[in-house]
Amino acid sequence: MNVTINFHKSPPHKPDTAIVGIYLDNRLSPSAEDIDKKLDGLIRNHLKNQISFTGKKGQSLSIPVSPKTGFNRVLLMGLDSPEELDALACETIGGKLFPVLSALGTTSVAVFIDDDQARENISTTEMATHIAYGLKLRSYRFDLYKSDPEENDEKKPELETVDIIIESATKAKNLYETYAGIAEGVFLARDLLHEPPNVLYPESYARRIRDELIPLGVEIEIMDEKKMYKLGMGAALAVGMGSARPPRMVIMHWQGNKQDDKAAPLAFVGKGVTFDTGGISIKPSAAMDEMKFDMGGSAAVVGLMKSLALRKSKANVVGIVALAENMPSRDAYRPGDIVKSMSGKTIEVLNTDAEGRMVLCDALTYVQKTYKPQLIIDLATLTGAIIVALGNEYCGTYANDDGLWEQLSAASATSGEKIWRMPLDETFSKAVESKVADLRNISNIGRAAGSCTAAAFLEHFIEDDTKWAHMDIAGTAWIKKDKPTVPAPGTGFGVRVLDRFVAEHHEG
Ligand code: BES
Ligand code: ZN
Ligand code: ZN
Repeated sequence: MNVTINFHKSPPHKPDTAIVGIYLDNRLSPSAEDIDKKLDGLIRNHLKNQISFTGKKGQSLSIPVSPKTGFNRVLLMGLDSPEELDALACETIGGKLFPVLSALGTTSVAVFIDDDQARENISTTEMATHIAYGLKLRSYRFDLYKSDPEENDEKKPELETVDIIIESATKAKNLYETYAGIAEGVFLARDLLHEPPNVLYPESYARRIRDELIPLGVEIEIMDEKKMYKLGMGAALAVGMGSARPPRMVIMHWQGNKQDDKAAPLAFVGKGVTFDTGGISIKPSAAMDEMKFDMGGSAAVVGLMKSLALRKSKANVVGIVALAENMPSRDAYRPGDIVKSMSGKTIEVLNTDAEGRMVLCDALTYVQKTYKPQLIIDLATLTGAIIVALGNEYCGTYANDDGLWEQLSAASATSGEKIWRMPLDETFSKAVESKVADLRNISNIGRAAGSCTAAAFLEHFIEDDTKWAHMDIAGTAWIKKDKPTVPAPGTGFGVRVLDRFVAEHHEG
């Protein structure tokens, strides 16, 4: 169960927990003052007698109060200084509230949001919305396969609803609607990441996309292996050959620009390897189970399409995901094989574990030939090398256009999903040229710059200066430790930054 969030001018009922803001150095916000008066100075007394809570962003302190007051406890939430408070800080505050509330086992919560002129970077309505959004994002849980989802939670009652108390309740509710749509897209991406590979494989994944998105008005086309063969997608087909579960390409179309129906679409392309054993170049067995998240790029694209549809984006967008399972078998493609991609370029396969670029190159060609998009952004859990370079913090991002990079960078700053620009370079492009075919699927410079040479391989498939960016999300799609708004492991990385990219730069 995820939490439901409501906005009210005053509490609809007496909450079990009342949450009030405290600024840095324990300055009380107006609603904290108000409750403090009603409780004969209880909050001030409490703050005097302890040292760890200082009102820093994300801190909290629970104070039990007599049920006579109407609540069972007051929870102080640190807000930092009002001048510093911005949307991302509010999301962190909301996100950090969730585990605290869960641990308290509280079932009804009211968060009091005050008007305060001292806040320079965020309005009261935005503050309420972003606290709610942060809390919502953190509340995600995947327990589909647990017979008793509660068993690990000490049978604590679940937090089901949170009431945000704010004078401009209607405005906040309307603004929150957009963010609730984004959260739904993020949650779908996370669900897809967590699904086990025996459940989510190309055919079942394609059906799932259809079932999720058709009701929202997204057009869906599912290409089977026969259609892929007809189109000459020899690279993507090669990857799928070793598996009993045949590959698919799924095309999702959202036509949101009603002013200009013919406007060239934005294209998003995702790697959807539903399980990556490495194929004949098989991976070591340690943690191989994690390779179920090798469809993280596609999950982000599907989640993004859901967000755009839910918030009725005014952009024309096409999403395409290349779905395949990379298995070793008597039918599998081999190191040494030479295959022909849809672009006509031939590829010498030297490592069957470098399969992501093989499925992506045909999706890139298809989307360019079919839609002539104004720009393309692909997402892929493409290389272990990007984890070595940037860890789980930053998504390595390549762009052949500075303007496109600037837009992505701005969207990253507003969404909080961090990206870092990486270099495209002729040296890397040359390193993936083959002696016996047009290209080779691993570079001739060994492990050096592994993420850069993978990007350079993809760049060979970008036609006529089409604006293009590639996001290697191998490090950011799957994390070991919870973040304030992102519970581990599957993150849904990409949905938030790309939703803001579309909203801020491509909705007229
Ligand atoms: N799916 C992997 C990349 C990956 C590794 C994603 C770890 C997430 C976590 C990809 O298909 C792969 O195996 N890449 C190889 C490329 C190499 C053979 C050139 C890699 O990174 O080792
Ligand atoms: Zn691989
Ligand atoms: Zn892979």
